[in-house]
Amino acid sequence: MQPDDHVCLCYRVSQRKLVAYLKRECPRVASQLSDCLDAGTGCQWCVPFLEELHSQWKAGEEPGLDVAPGEYAARRTQYRRGKRDGGDGS
Ligand code: FES
Repeated sequence: MQPDDHVCLCYRVSQRKLVAYLKRECPRVASQLSDCLDAGTGCQWCVPFLEELHSQWKAGEEPGLDVAPGEYAARRTQYRRGKRDGGDGS
């Protein structure tokens, strides 16, 4: 994923914005990333990825997701389809 790719697809929040938020606001818990343009508050697909970015940052690493944007979006589509059909999204 590149910096301008969207991590939260519902609210179009880029990885760059999330990383800047982490560095600026130093959130104690990953859920505080929702204060960054409502990331994670829609379908919640991106929540595990927000948690990953937060843990990387807490560990002193440069936060970044190692997933191709196309694959990421396709997996979210499946997740949403599973939720809509009453499945568990897996
Ligand atoms: S992709 Fe982030 S809430 Fe849906």
